Amino acid sequence: MPDTVEQERCHQLREHVSRLPRFALGHFPTPLEHLPRFSKALGGPEIYIKRDDCTGLAFGGNKTRHNEFLMGAALQQGADLFVWGAGVQSNNCRQTAAACAKAGLDCHLVLGRGGPADGPDEVQGNLLLDHLVGASFEIVEESVGPELDDRIAEVAEQQRQQGRNVYLWDRHTVKPLAAVSYMLCMAEFVEQSTASGTEFDEMYVCSAGSTGSGLALAAKYLNCPFPVRNISPIVWPWETKEDMAQIANEAAELTEMETRLDRDEIDYTTDYVGPEYGKPTPACLEAIALLARTEGILLDPVYSGKAMAGLIDHIRQGRIAAGQTVVFVHTGGTPALFAFHKELATQIAARSL
Ligand SMILES: Cc1ncc(COP(=O)(O)O)c(C=O)c1O
Repeated sequence: MPDTVEQERCHQLREHVSRLPRFALGHFPTPLEHLPRFSKALGGPEIYIKRDDCTGLAFGGNKTRHNEFLMGAALQQGADLFVWGAGVQSNNCRQTAAACAKAGLDCHLVLGRGGPADGPDEVQGNLLLDHLVGASFEIVEESVGPELDDRIAEVAEQQRQQGRNVYLWDRHTVKPLAAVSYMLCMAEFVEQSTASGTEFDEMYVCSAGSTGSGLALAAKYLNCPFPVRNISPIVWPWETKEDMAQIANEAAELTEMETRLDRDEIDYTTDYVGPEYGKPTPACLEAIALLARTEGILLDPVYSGKAMAGLIDHIRQGRIAAGQTVVFVHTGGTPALFAFHKELATQIAARSL
């Protein structure tokens, strides 16, 4: 039986979530680790890391949590095919393809390159792993976002007409379910921090959608005393705080929770995206090198590296005081390191990091 107020609240949160179908994929709880050498290198606050890069399935990451609920829903509806899509180096697609392999479902990926090819698409990083876990895929010119979503919906419709029972990447249905999985991550974190007796002042995460929405909703439900700071890897063509609050509120409805979020309760910045989504910035490369060289932990050049660049900058600006304690939720993405091998090797070497 739970014996602290925090444990009781976490237990209630799990009760709410247990109403939804779920297919087990990951290794949970993921570790919560202290980063003493990284903290010292930044000369300030104590920094911890929640290792959601270690969720276990095909190199892990945040989508393994998401997919437990998406697979649960797909299996409940009797789906036999996932039609999914995002960028060519999508972590989402790689983890979804691996989840389909484990659940015995077919997976077809529609991967947006965001323009015409300027050479053959290199089968590296996430794309290589998509192959290995048995997904079929097509690479199209559309950019990630509404354009690509329309193309994915077309492909799904063609498959339906051929008699397949399709579970489709559709942001309106999948995002709230994915957010539910991050409510569980927050419960895990609260239990781990309570057990270790560590009090946290800040949480940082790379998100512009479900991950941060679920964390923020659970933080409110669990009365967490720290803000969830979402550092975005992308500038979406929609009002993102509004969207994230809506995702959180739909997750609350799905789990029959009374807690709701207002857009102003979402802490979100696009300050660290740089000139373009998917292009590593100098600060992102510095973050990758610093964490790797002080702690042996790898970040990725598209998502977690940019979010860590945000945390480092906030520390350097004095927005987080030396005596404070921060947790960074590592959402994974590390297979993309191999797709960016040339850029990483030359830029990191040139900067002598
Ligand atoms: C490694 C990694 N981190 C963070 C995110 C952001 O997730 P979301 O915006 O869906 O919360 C993604 C999304 O693809 C990702 O692959």
